[in-house]
Amino acid sequence: MAFILETVVVTTDAAGTAHIAPYGLIADGDGWVLAPFRPSPAIANLAENPFAVASSPRDVRVIAGCVTGRRDWPTEPADHVPGRRLSSDHVHAHLELAVESVEEDVQRPRFRCRVVETVAVTAWPGYNRAQNAVLEAAILSTRLDMLPPEKIEREIAYLAIAIEKTAGRAEREAWGWIIDRIEAHNTRTHNNAAG
Ligand SMILES: Cc1cc2nc3c(=O)[nH]c(=O)nc-3n(C[C@H](O)[C@H](O)[C@H](O)COP(=O)(O)O)c2cc1C
Repeated sequence: MAFILETVVVTTDAAGTAHIAPYGLIADGDGWVLAPFRPSPAIANLAENPFAVASSPRDVRVIAGCVTGRRDWPTEPADHVPGRRLSSDHVHAHLELAVESVEEDVQRPRFRCRVVETVAVTAWPGYNRAQNAVLEAAILSTRLDMLPPEKIEREIAYLAIAIEKTAGRAEREAWGWIIDRIEAHNTRTHNNAAG
């Protein structure tokens, strides 16, 4: 089983415009593979400017926000590669990456990246249970068309326990955005089925 690091990745087009989205980085020797599903602006950006910065957000609202239509998080210039990265005020660490090769694929091209620099912003003690629950729920919320509704319901019910026990204001807000997305999807599915 591959080791996958869940991060928020910024890619930048030739004009300097940043695109932000959560992606899992797949460990590959001393490098990482970035694999966005098509269609994604990240794929076009990496063709124009083959660099990316993957960051571990301090505030899980960045992760939940990106998958619920709230992508307007502040960015800043990267230190060691051309392009931008998530603002250091919002992250524990950055991995500044250079694409070394691309494995083309109709669904999911794989960009093999070299680590140009690891930038530690904080001494990160790790996520608590509620932060992990938001991360897991955010992933689930991007797979609503692929997973059986019972599985989503069961997993959300389990993750909700960690939210009830350990969430602060930020995690509660992030959780609310994700639940709204799931409920909107369920309503649409129900209405379509009803004809
Ligand atoms: C923690 C996390 C990891 C994710 N990893 C990936 C990934 O590796 N590849 C991918 O295409 N989508 C991944 N997703 C889903 C994308 O973030 C989501 O579909 C997003 O809307 C993609 O944006 P884009 O269409 O602009 O690329 C992940 C989501 C989360 C919350």
